[in-house]
This record gives sequence, structure tokens and C-alpha cells, in this order.
Amino acid sequence: STHDHLFKLLIIGDSGVGKSSILLRFCDDEFNEKQASTIGVDFKTKFLQVRGKKLKLALWDTAGQERFRTLTSSYYRGAQGIILCYDCTQRSSFEHVKFWQDEVRKYSTNQDAILMLVSNKVDLADQQVTRTEGEEFAFANSMMFIETSAKTRHKKNIRFMLARRTLVSA
Ligand code: GTP
Ligand code: MG
Repeated sequence: STHDHLFKLLIIGDSGVGKSSILLRFCDDEFNEKQASTIGVDFKTKFLQVRGKKLKLALWDTAGQERFRTLTSSYYRGAQGIILCYDCTQRSSFEHVKFWQDEVRKYSTNQDAILMLVSNKVDLADQQVTRTEGEEFAFANSMMFIETSAKTRHKKNIRFMLARRTLVSA
């Protein structure tokens, strides 16, 4: 077999927060200033070594736009990791985190799914959400938390979550 474990990951959050950019950084170590808004759902795979095990990641990149909600909600099923993103320079995207959490409660069938809250675009100066606010929300809601920038930070983001939690039970 090509891998020891298959891990299904879903990335959600408002349109424009940088979900596709985070995945592009993670998978290909690239960044695109003119990243196109996702239509429906995109799919990527990635192989990774974590603690000596070969991991195959199935990465589902959902569109944040409201008109795709019915479609995207059908992809929550069975996700083992859910990455919930906001843009720290857009207060509204942080306030909508609660909405996305409700979507997870409604559509995710996996009680053990790992949730990670991601504050993206920390390279920008005009921040509207502090790190502490993000951390406190994540802590109060049993989520992991990281700050990142798809633009300037390299690959650390998703690997962090996998290394810390994924293989504990695998
Ligand atoms: P939808 O597909 O519509 O849900 O949006 P998305 O969450 O996938 O956002 P996307 O990755 O398309 O990024 C939106 C815009 O933000 C693009 O112009 C990106 O280049 C930009 N962007 C994404 N991440 C960062 C970041 O970390 N820093 C900066 N400065 N810009 C970013
Ligand atoms: Mg996208």
C-alpha cells in the first residue's frame, strides 16, 4: 500500500479568508495574489511523513460563498480533521466562526473530528482580531489554534495539527 493511514481533512470559513491559499502553500509551497474564489469544492491529495508513518491526506477545499452552502455541507461527512479559518483583518469572518461551528455540528458525522481554528493573513498590518481573542475562542470550544500567513509562512500550518493529534489514535 502507498500509505499507512488515510486522513480526510476539510477546510471551511468565509469567502476570502484564504482557505485555498493555505492549501496551496501547504501542498505546493506557492502563493497566488490573484487566487480565484473556489467554485463548489476542490480536492487535493498530499503524502506526508509524520512520526515515521506514511500519511495520505485527502484535502477538501470548500467554497465560502453562500450560494454553495448546500453543496459544501455534504462534504462534512466523515471528515477526521476540520480546519476553520478566519481572516484576522476582517472582524466579520471571526464573528462568523460560530456559524461555521454550527455547520460542523449539523453536518459532521464524526464525533471525534479534530477541529483547528486558523487565523490567517497575519502578515498584514491592519489586524482587527487579536491573537488572544482567537486563542480564547479556540480554548473555550475545544479547538486547536494557530496563526498563519499563506503568503509569508511556510507549510507549518496543517502539519502542526497532524503531528500533535492525528496519529495519537491511529
Ligand atoms: P473562497 O474560495 O471564496 O471561499 O475564498 P478562500 O477562503 O479560498 O480565499 P483565497 O485563498 O481565494 O484568498 C483570498 C484572497 O486573499 C486572495 O487574493 C489571496 O491571495 C489572499 N490571501 C490569502 N491568504 C493570504 C495571506 O496569508 N496574506 C495575504 N496578504 N493575502 C492572502
Ligand atoms: Mg477558495
